[in-house]
Amino acid sequence: MSAPTLEVYTAPEQLTAALREDAARGLTASSKWLPPKWFYDARGSELFERITRLPEYYPTRLERALLERHAPEIAAATSPRTLVELGSGSSEKTRLLLRAFVAEGSLRRYVPQDVSETALRAAARRIAAEFPALDVHGVVGDFTDSLHHLPRGGRRMIAFLGGTLGNLVPDERREFLSEIADVTRPGEYLLLGVALVTDPAVLVRAYDDAAGVTAQFDLNVLSVLNKQLGADFDLDRFRHVAVWDPVHEWIEMRLEATTEMMVRVADLGITVPFAAGEQIRTEISAKFRLDGIRAELDAAGFGDMQSWTDEEDRFAVVCARRH
Ligand code: AVJ
Repeated sequence: MSAPTLEVYTAPEQLTAALREDAARGLTASSKWLPPKWFYDARGSELFERITRLPEYYPTRLERALLERHAPEIAAATSPRTLVELGSGSSEKTRLLLRAFVAEGSLRRYVPQDVSETALRAAARRIAAEFPALDVHGVVGDFTDSLHHLPRGGRRMIAFLGGTLGNLVPDERREFLSEIADVTRPGEYLLLGVALVTDPAVLVRAYDDAAGVTAQFDLNVLSVLNKQLGADFDLDRFRHVAVWDPVHEWIEMRLEATTEMMVRVADLGITVPFAAGEQIRTEISAKFRLDGIRAELDAAGFGDMQSWTDEEDRFAVVCARRH
């Protein structure tokens, strides 16, 4: 087995600078917001892994079942030499793809990319041990910035699983998909896992589970600000809220102040006032329709979309080809 290699494009100082900028902008805006990427420190990543095992949170299970069932067919239709995975996290579901692609015979290289260096290191090591014939090369960075550092050539498939595309608003999505198109060549593939529009009650439960794990995950972003930026958020004075926005067709997660308060963010030199009931938007998780995603992919430069969905049409794995 050859040892996995790792390239780090986002140093810890850069991450802290980006967090400062996001917190300064988001917390001083008239409608407060924070980007979801700051959920994922070690505790946040662990809470997210717990979310994926909750009875109410179906996307991970459905995606895994779809990959289990259809990976051989996807492999036969695409024969990639390199699999690039954006936001690979624990690479847990990727094994299903890797197994099918290795069995198909063309795959030589796996390039996982993630913002968390610890998660990436561990995942790269496990994958390299399990698939000794593969060259494993990790890229640490933000998924948008990392695109420019991906190795070129060798019939690639870019996978972006788990429904994470839904974290982007439509404008960001358009830009992101066209950036992927810019770094790929005709004939290369994009594989996406996307959650579909379904019963709002089912959706809201998935983001507001009975055991309160999603609430802890949401509140964790305040702990990140406390630790990283010397803020003094009192987590007991915020509550987690999940709402379905039927116009945008996305779930919004918010943290609602239960009392009026002032929060000091020492490292930014600011004090942030909260009214009772005021909310911080912490995440959007857009849900898709197959026609919509096909049109978005087509506009970005990817055609011939194939899709696989579960019986209840709650999740889809889609594959499109750069034209
Ligand atoms: C990792 C962005 C796909 O939106 O479903 C899960 C994150 N947030 N529960 C999602 C999440 C709350 C998740 N993604």
